[in-house]
Formats: sequence, structure tokens, C-alpha cells
Amino acid sequence: MNAYEKLLLENKAWAREKTLEDPEYFKRLVNIQTPEFLWIGCSDSRVPANEITGTSPGEIFVQRNIANMVIHTDLNLLSVLQYAVDVLKVKHIIVCGHYGCGGVKAAMGNQSFGIINKWLRNIKDVYRLHEEELVAIKDESERVNRLIELNVQEQVLNLAKTSIVQHAWKTDQRPHLHGWVYSLHNGIIKPVCDMEPNTHIDHIYEYDNP
Ligand code: CO
Repeated sequence: MNAYEKLLLENKAWAREKTLEDPEYFKRLVNIQTPEFLWIGCSDSRVPANEITGTSPGEIFVQRNIANMVIHTDLNLLSVLQYAVDVLKVKHIIVCGHYGCGGVKAAMGNQSFGIINKWLRNIKDVYRLHEEELVAIKDESERVNRLIELNVQEQVLNLAKTSIVQHAWKTDQRPHLHGWVYSLHNGIIKPVCDMEPNTHIDHIYEYDNP
């Protein structure tokens, strides 16, 4: 059997199991999508949003990219963000990185990887911003892991810099922003930062009329 055929077989088994457990399961999900959470995570195959948080289909709106970045020229991310905030009215946005992230590791080095350099450059900017703290860490994997935490923190800040989030903060007192880092070693998520609605940010980034 081809590897992809196994996926389709497993899918049939899963659908049958769900229907046996709860005959209304799919009927209910078809008609409503009201997730409370937007998840911005790394594309890494070992960090599946639903599985590691014990949530079911319908509970988390998901966006994943290399190294869980919030980049203000990324039309994909911005569209997901606007839909989640304005239409789904999510209460929480979680940026979840993970220790040992290959994207962050690559950004810390000087090897060229082609077009992905342009994506990773944004992480190099985070490195430069926190260079003093990072160069003081002698152990290389500890340094990578600290940059992973700082990167999550910066991406949460990037969310707060958008007029989308600022508008929802002003008019609806949501969403609450969270920065988390997941450990591949023990499966535990460590919260590293959070921003409640209307947290004051640097006035340079604050809009009067978001
Ligand atoms: Co990663």
C-alpha cells in the first residue's frame, strides 16, 4: 500500500469511529464554526495544535508557517487574522513556538537557504534586537531556545501592532494575546508572555483610529 493510501484508509476509520461515538457529530460541525482561539504555530509536523492542547475540530482556528511568524506583509496571515478577529470573534490568539525550532536555528546561522532567507531574515531582526542578551549565553542550544522565546514574544507584539487587533481591543475588549513555547522533549507548553486587551504598547505603533 502506498503511504498516502494509508491516510485515506485511516480517514475512513476515523470518520466511522466519530459517527459511532456520536451520530450527530458531523451534522453539528457542518453548521457552526465558533472557535474561541486563533493559533499561530510553526509548520513543524511535531507540533499539531489540536492534539497537544486536547482540543477537537471546531475549537481552534489555525495558521501555521515556518517559525510561527507574524509578518505585516504576509497577506495570508493578515487575512486569517482579520477573519478570526472580525468574523469569528476569537477571544484568544496564541502564538506557539517550540524549542529546537529548525527555522530559528537556521536564522541564527550564516548558511544561505535560497528564498527562505527572506522569511528567516525577520528572525535575524529579532536576534539583532536582543543581541546583547543572546551573545552572553555560551551554550548554543540554550541560545537558540532563548531566541525561540524572544521570537514568540516579538510575534505577539507584532499582533498588537496591527490595526486589526487594536480595533478589536478598543471596540470589543478582546482578544487576549498569548506567547507559548512547546517542548518536543516532554510535550509541555511553557507560557512566556501575554498581552491583555488594551495593553499599552509603544506609542509609535499605536493608531488613534484603528
Ligand atoms: Co519550528
